[in-house]
Amino acid sequence: MVTTAQKAPEHSLTITDNRTGKTIVVPIERNSIPATALKKLARKQDAQQGDKLEDEVEGGLRVYDPGFMNTAVVQSRITFIDGEKGILRHRGYPIEQLAEKSSFLETAYLLLYGELPTKSQYTLFSNEVLHHTFVHRDLQEIMGSFRHDAHPMAMLESAFAALGAYAPEANPSLVGQNIYTNARTSEASLQLMDKQIFRLLGKAITVAAMAYRMRMGRQFVKPPAGLSYTESFLYMMDHLNEGSSYRPHPTIVKALDTLFLLHADHEMNASCAAVLQVGSTLVDPYSAIAAGCAALYGPLHGGANEAVVRMLVSIGSVENVPAFIEKVKRKEAVLSGFGHRIYRSTDPRSTIIRKVAEDIFAITGRDPLLDTALALRDAALSDPYFKERRLYPNVDFFSGLIYRALGFPTDYFPILFALPRIAGWLAHWRQMMLSPQGVKIWRPRQVYVGEGERAYVPLKERKERKVERGAEPSVVNHPTSTRVFLARESKL
Ligand code: SDX
Repeated sequence: MVTTAQKAPEHSLTITDNRTGKTIVVPIERNSIPATALKKLARKQDAQQGDKLEDEVEGGLRVYDPGFMNTAVVQSRITFIDGEKGILRHRGYPIEQLAEKSSFLETAYLLLYGELPTKSQYTLFSNEVLHHTFVHRDLQEIMGSFRHDAHPMAMLESAFAALGAYAPEANPSLVGQNIYTNARTSEASLQLMDKQIFRLLGKAITVAAMAYRMRMGRQFVKPPAGLSYTESFLYMMDHLNEGSSYRPHPTIVKALDTLFLLHADHEMNASCAAVLQVGSTLVDPYSAIAAGCAALYGPLHGGANEAVVRMLVSIGSVENVPAFIEKVKRKEAVLSGFGHRIYRSTDPRSTIIRKVAEDIFAITGRDPLLDTALALRDAALSDPYFKERRLYPNVDFFSGLIYRALGFPTDYFPILFALPRIAGWLAHWRQMMLSPQGVKIWRPRQVYVGEGERAYVPLKERKERKVERGAEPSVVNHPTSTRVFLARESKL
């Protein structure tokens, strides 16, 4: 409720619009203010004051925040991060305790349902998830149609978009836009929602393994029975001979399960925001998860673990670290695996991953790139350029070295980030669908800085003219065959 200045409560802001002298009092709740309160600071458009129609002054003030540097778009109970203190908690449980005592699937349950499961709850959940690992035969055709060198993330995001097509009964566009938001009151809707969550978590390991098998030129492996979630994933990745009693190495299963747990959720990161942006249109959850995969794919986000190893390989040796550091300071390169929008200290996950690396290297042998990584880390942590900008190792700095030691192809690394993050995305999607306030479509505003109104000019009256760079289509090169085709066609 906005009140006048004289009754300003303690937890509030008093804001005076110096253009009009109007004062409003905006309530502060949980150290935040409702952005819409600023819409009360409107005024009559006045050209004398330099106002333009496009500034929308009569609609009230807007908040301009490119990159979401300081904008909260949801209230959530799932994950808390304190970037200054390097704290990460899921439903109140510190990540260090979960990493030591929990498993990925149990943490997924915690993220989704809010509490650590009892034995019967966990049995139901894990059985349901592992019951849904099979995919439609036609999806195998789709996955099999990719080239062997297709980026695995391109396959993964395609797979989730396609998976939705095999569940028409779960598609709001086909059976009713409120089939998930009705879950607030309807048992049938709640079951439908949770069934899609079981399906997505279960099929995620299968499609991820299929992407790997495509890359390796191997047949797909049927989901096994009786193995744990991460064990089933590794089984489908590496099983070769029918009839062999192959089982993944227990230390590798445990290490990868811990890595999955560490990657399960991280509140409003770019890919989670993408899932909720898309989910807010009430589209099916498979499409929302596909959007999350697309966002995570980028080198600034989940693609960073791949970028770190490519960076370390390009540096080559410890001796070349100082030169690379100088290159970064000249802004000619990015120090992948460093920096974070929220953490202004070392990412607590990075510290745990560093320890997991030793467990793996004890089996696989130490990767010489680790020496380069440690030298790079130490050089950056002691350099004022990075200290001033509060750049520290993030979750991606060491994880790629582990995946490399485990023999995964470099471009497969983002899959190992996306796969567990599906649990976090689904937890936030479920929280959105069950929101007591209902779901409002996410529709950000803009500040228009373009042309004012102008009249259409018929083609014959338009004169050839030089335009600024980028303001006309680029002339692109064609391979000879296309050039010849275009030449032939132009004679038609
Ligand atoms: C993840 O959001 C999440 O929670 C993500 C994540 C999750 O679990 O979901 O934690 C996972 O994505 C971790 C981040 C992985 N990405 C990388 O490692 C890529 C390298 N990092 C940067 O691109 C960058 O640090 C970001 C993208 C992570 C954060 O970017 P910000 O918050 O927009 O910071 P910025 O670009 O404004 O940087 C501030 C300054 C700039 O210098 P100045 O213009 O002030 O001179 O720091 C510099 C930047 O140039 N800087 C870097 C740098 N990161 C920031 N310089 C060199 N190397 C870097 N890595």
